[in-house]
Amino acid sequence: MDHHDIHYDEGFIRFLEEMWGDGYLSPGGAAEVGRLLEGVDLTGKTVLDIGCGSGGITAGLAKDFGAAKVVGIDVEEPVCREARQKVLALGVSDKVEIHQISPEYPMPFEAKSFDIVFSKDSIVHIPDKESMCYESFRLLKPGGWFVASDWLISHDDAPSAEMVAYLKLEDLDFGMASPTRYRTALQAAGFDHVSLRNRNRWYFEEAKGELARMMHDRPRFDATMGKEEIDIQVELWQAMLVVLEKGEHCPHHFRGQKPMG
Ligand SMILES: C[S@@+](CC[C@H](N)C(=O)[O-])C[C@H]1O[C@@H](n2cnc3c(N)ncnc32)[C@H](O)[C@@H]1O
Repeated sequence: MDHHDIHYDEGFIRFLEEMWGDGYLSPGGAAEVGRLLEGVDLTGKTVLDIGCGSGGITAGLAKDFGAAKVVGIDVEEPVCREARQKVLALGVSDKVEIHQISPEYPMPFEAKSFDIVFSKDSIVHIPDKESMCYESFRLLKPGGWFVASDWLISHDDAPSAEMVAYLKLEDLDFGMASPTRYRTALQAAGFDHVSLRNRNRWYFEEAKGELARMMHDRPRFDATMGKEEIDIQVELWQAMLVVLEKGEHCPHHFRGQKPMG
């Protein structure tokens, strides 16, 4: 992978961490991870974290949520490097491994290797949600849970003009899918007890605060990626708030259980 293929380079990682906290490349920090994991006991469990980013959550699954073993996977080199440093810094290298993998399936793990397949706001980069659900199902032990958060679009029609404008500014390889598509993909893969929880109103409020922080603390943000890039990010957040307010951009939590067999 050459440098031009990297979406999460050092500057962008610094910017997102300035916004969301050290080791966090998605909204809500440890509190939102806790809400995502409500009712799921990780104590002594083996966990796969798809799209581990810079590793704050991955390390936290062992350090704060009691997982016995966590395997964080990501496709980009800078985030994997940061995640390995985070794992060392938080003193969980006996429990947490970070693997840089290719996006192709099957992933380099045996079937039925994990009690929990976890992901926070990374599947938006995986266009084929159906294959991702089948692969997660394969990797889970019978009775295991798939527990994820992701950024969704509320419908299966063409995106609105406002959504098109927002996605253009994102300039990431975003593949947003609808709640219906996720539910169908999870059920088709074989998951039981599939449930989805819309986080749109929560993130709408959160994102207003994020934009306010960026605007009121410009020097700190400018220091991460430069003034011009932060001007673009301010514009992006403004465009995102429009589609959040409409409900069209709707982050969700979702989960499903692999039957006992
Ligand atoms: C928004 S970040 C979230 C990172 C982390 N889960 C967090 O919440 O802090 C999305 C991550 O997904 C990773 N990613 C992109 N495509 C991927 C793929 N096909 N498989 C796994 N991870 C991928 C990106 O490299 C990036 O680190």
